[in-house]
Amino acid sequence: MHNKIKYTTNIGTDVNDAATHLRNGETVAIPTETVYGLAANALNEEAVLKIYEVKQRPQFNPLIIHVDSFESALKWVVNVPTEARLLVQKFWPGALTLLLDKKDIIPDLVTAGHSKVAVRVPDHPLTLELLKQLDFPLAAPSANPSGYVSPTTAAHVYVGLKGKIPYILDGGESAIGLESTIVGWDKEGKAIIYRLGGICKEDIEKVIGHEVSIATSITEDPSTPGMLKSHYATVTPLHAGGIADLLKKFPDKKCILINYHQYQPNYPKELQYILTPQNDLHEAAKNLFKIMREADAKHAEIILTEYAPKEGIGLAINDRIKRAKWEWKKEI
Ligand code: TXA
Ligand code: MG
Repeated sequence: MHNKIKYTTNIGTDVNDAATHLRNGETVAIPTETVYGLAANALNEEAVLKIYEVKQRPQFNPLIIHVDSFESALKWVVNVPTEARLLVQKFWPGALTLLLDKKDIIPDLVTAGHSKVAVRVPDHPLTLELLKQLDFPLAAPSANPSGYVSPTTAAHVYVGLKGKIPYILDGGESAIGLESTIVGWDKEGKAIIYRLGGICKEDIEKVIGHEVSIATSITEDPSTPGMLKSHYATVTPLHAGGIADLLKKFPDKKCILINYHQYQPNYPKELQYILTPQNDLHEAAKNLFKIMREADAKHAEIILTEYAPKEGIGLAINDRIKRAKWEWKKEI
């Protein structure tokens, strides 16, 4: 279904305005520390349907619900494992999403029919204030058209969704810049990371006291969170790896380079970006989506991207770069 309704999309910092739209069953873009979300009342199926329509997102891809505290989460979920409680104490509010057994009041539309719902407490003052005013949780995927790079500023949201939503709550640039890490427990009670994100594997393992596996293959199985192949992709074909080698592979193409920390010698500087001038993984994470968007706007023939060091949040950065790769996009 295509959107028939057209809105004037306002950008502002008024939490009351945002709350009013949400109580009226509208969608509103909200800032979080990871990326901006496209929010609606998670208990109102018509409002949730609007999220899928606005994003053009397939309904088999479930949504995360956002709440203001663990106490609020307990209104919507049951059977919280002990390890989940430990993670909550350490990381909420924060970039950690937990897959927990849902209560019946959470519509199947939110979870795509799964018995578990994804839930997190975002760490952003405006959005926490907003959530405190509401007596319902907010379902919110990233506020980008399905398949495109996630937004980390209100302006990014505006470019992708203008005319389709009434309000963007502007909370500045997202501090982390990558989506949350998703953790769930299998039937045997074993913790599994389903999507790498803002909180790294090592930090999770420190809290629960043992190693955690990462759900491995990139599949199109919708029960595997965060794993649709064409996620996060630029329109310009993107290739990833060692930049010097890639340049040799594409000698005649107009390339835009996204380097990790250092410019390539012998290549025009105006065609290059650096993810982290300070050689810092967190800075690279914060800049990745913004720079992917800027590189895309240059309308080059291809974008060549260097991977981050394989440690800490670098694994999540590399996961997003891999998902943006052209070879995967064209298989769809
Ligand atoms: O940081 C974030 O997580 C951001 C901000 C807005 O909170 N949200 C976000 O949402 O990244 P989204 O929809 O772009 O990604 C959520 C991922 C999807 O890949 C989805 O498949 C998975 O979470 N997911 C959500 N609910 C699930 C469920 N009940 N079972 C399995 N996977 C689920
Ligand atoms: Mg997304």
